[in-house]
Amino acid sequence: MNRLSGKVAVITGGNSGMGLATAKLFATEGAKVAVTGRNESTLATAATAIGHDAIAIKADVLDLKSIDAAYQQAFDKFGKFDVLIVNAGVFKGLPLADFTEELFDEIVDINYKGAFFSVQKALPFLNDGASVVITSSVVNVTGMATASAYASTKAAVRSLARGFSADLLDRKIRVNILSPGPIETPIFDRLGMPQENVNGMKEYMASGVPLKRLGTVDEMANGFLFLASDESSYMVGGEIVLDGGMGQL
Ligand SMILES: NC(=O)c1ccc[n+]([C@@H]2O[C@H](COP(=O)([O-])OP(=O)(O)OC[C@H]3O[C@@H](n4cnc5c(N)ncnc54)[C@H](OP(=O)(O)O)[C@@H]3O)[C@@H](O)[C@H]2O)c1
Repeated sequence: MNRLSGKVAVITGGNSGMGLATAKLFATEGAKVAVTGRNESTLATAATAIGHDAIAIKADVLDLKSIDAAYQQAFDKFGKFDVLIVNAGVFKGLPLADFTEELFDEIVDINYKGAFFSVQKALPFLNDGASVVITSSVVNVTGMATASAYASTKAAVRSLARGFSADLLDRKIRVNILSPGPIETPIFDRLGMPQENVNGMKEYMASGVPLKRLGTVDEMANGFLFLASDESSYMVGGEIVLDGGMGQL
């Protein structure tokens, strides 16, 4: 299949986890792919792993100028974008009583402000009719202990997809949301906990999913592909929830 044949796709947070799996799938579906992220080492290996002349660009969404520079670099290489996946994000939490302003600002600045400006700054580089997808989470509609700051950023980006779609109707740019449940990615290894605790946390999360397992990055990549391609051409400001039933049953 070549569902993205000739299209240019930019994926933020494309050097790890579900962003990387999505970049690989998009490249095999015919897209010219640019990924962004912070870690130079995984950016280098990601470009090779994605293949098909993909490029990997260092950009931290906390530094808005680096987003501009990354988009310019992707444009110089491939031309205007048909697909933008706004996927960069962090998962961090603390009991409410212990929450700090510093941690709150970090989560909000990356997951919410970072997503807002990752779309806004792409506007000059997007083709009319482009598809933009923002990664939210099933927790945009559920409560999760220790994670209210995280969850509220994911509810905020759910709202952005509606507002941005309304803003961009005249250009026929569709903005939609993909909301994963708990997915097996490096996001949990970044919590700074011993591996044993990370494994325990994943088991606990899996036990709360009706399907009794974490989702896979490939399951997420298939969802991103649908939203990125013309197969979702009648979907605007909407959401696909890929959560093993967690938010429903
Ligand atoms: N895994 C889950 O269970 C789950 C569930 C629901 C939603 N999500 C969401 O899915 C998205 C992808 O996460 P993942 O699970 O695939 O985890 P991951 O493997 O940790 O990937 C996170 C990605 O975001 C990038 N990133 C983080 N902070 C950044 C910043 N300040 N500037 C630029 N890039 C930044 C990382 O780049 P570096 O590695 O270079 O820092 C990495 O590429 C996130 O938005 C996350 O909130 C995940």
